[in-house]
Amino acid sequence: KRIAVLYGGKADEHSISCISTAAVLNALDADRFEAIPIGITKRGQWITDGEDPRGFVMDGRNLPTVRAVEGSRPVVLDIGAGSDGFFARDPDGSLVSLGHIDAVFPVLHGPFGEDGTVQGLLEMMGVSYVGCGVFASAACMDKHFTKVLLQAAGIPVAPGVMFDTRDFDAAHAFKPDAAAMVDRVRRAHLPYPVFVKPSRGGSSFGVHKVESEGDGSALAAAVLEASHHDWKVLVEQGIDAREIECAVFAPRAAAGDEEPKASLPGEIVLDHADGDTDAFYDFDSKYVDAHASHAEVPAHLPEETLQRVRDVAVRAFKAVDGAGLSRVDTFVNAAGEVMVNEINTMPGFTPISMYPKAWEAMGVPYGELLTELIEGVL
Ligand code: DAL
Ligand code: MG
Repeated sequence: KRIAVLYGGKADEHSISCISTAAVLNALDADRFEAIPIGITKRGQWITDGEDPRGFVMDGRNLPTVRAVEGSRPVVLDIGAGSDGFFARDPDGSLVSLGHIDAVFPVLHGPFGEDGTVQGLLEMMGVSYVGCGVFASAACMDKHFTKVLLQAAGIPVAPGVMFDTRDFDAAHAFKPDAAAMVDRVRRAHLPYPVFVKPSRGGSSFGVHKVESEGDGSALAAAVLEASHHDWKVLVEQGIDAREIECAVFAPRAAAGDEEPKASLPGEIVLDHADGDTDAFYDFDSKYVDAHASHAEVPAHLPEETLQRVRDVAVRAFKAVDGAGLSRVDTFVNAAGEVMVNEINTMPGFTPISMYPKAWEAMGVPYGELLTELIEGVL
């Protein structure tokens, strides 16, 4: 079977997608699948025959990027042509078919990839793809709407308020009104510390912790910074809890004939050598100093708490109409209560990522996981 693997993309998480893709391509069962890598540059151009993504690695701050190189050709899509709608444009302008594509694996994180946009495009083309559909992808990309949906389903979430930073423009000359923000956070009864996040982002880009109310300037600065990633900014109560992640797997969920399976929940354990215990799991600790942490599966928690996380993860996946896979990130407090933090519909697939690690711990090797996800949509 011929599988188009989409990677890179226009989001902040471009490079994470590149290293997820290297791992996916290297683990894909070559006897079953022929991969057709299609890179998406940061500016949004689709290319084929570019630099071999199998070689992408995370090397400190040296982040891999999709670039057009000698021999790479732009990809042209024929909407409505189904699995035969993928073409490459030769230098003389002629279109050459990339051949029949049996399914697409969009290994894309963040907006324009994990948010329903690419999924909608693939629906329009009439081609099968791995993972959540348009609705679940869009709903889970937006941390504000994820809360709205989960709350409606009776699933606990961290309290938060949403700021529409487009309001800053004329009235505040692009500066947030600190007093008004402090007031809204107070009226929502959010105790500090709070986390300020772009509502539609990932990998901790633009996320800041604000320790205290003070004169409001720290809150305003954090909201302004987050607004550079998304005009929709979420201020969320910092929950005094451990972050426990659960990998949900439902390769045939789109057919509606399958109960999603939840892995044993895992925890990212930071192996701090520098005593920086108050730091949160930000971009650097996720990727740049990745050697300074490891995924522990199962998380060191009582059996019944692990089971509660699994139940909540499956309920959350179903509440958003999930399909294929998702990593449900939760907060578990000292009393063992579980709250959903967020749902990642295309979780990191890097060699150190929790999603593949959790299934490995369940006895499903990485390559087999990919085979099942792809075969589920063929
Ligand atoms: N957004 C990153 C890739 C993750 O959730 O794993
Ligand atoms: Mg995320």
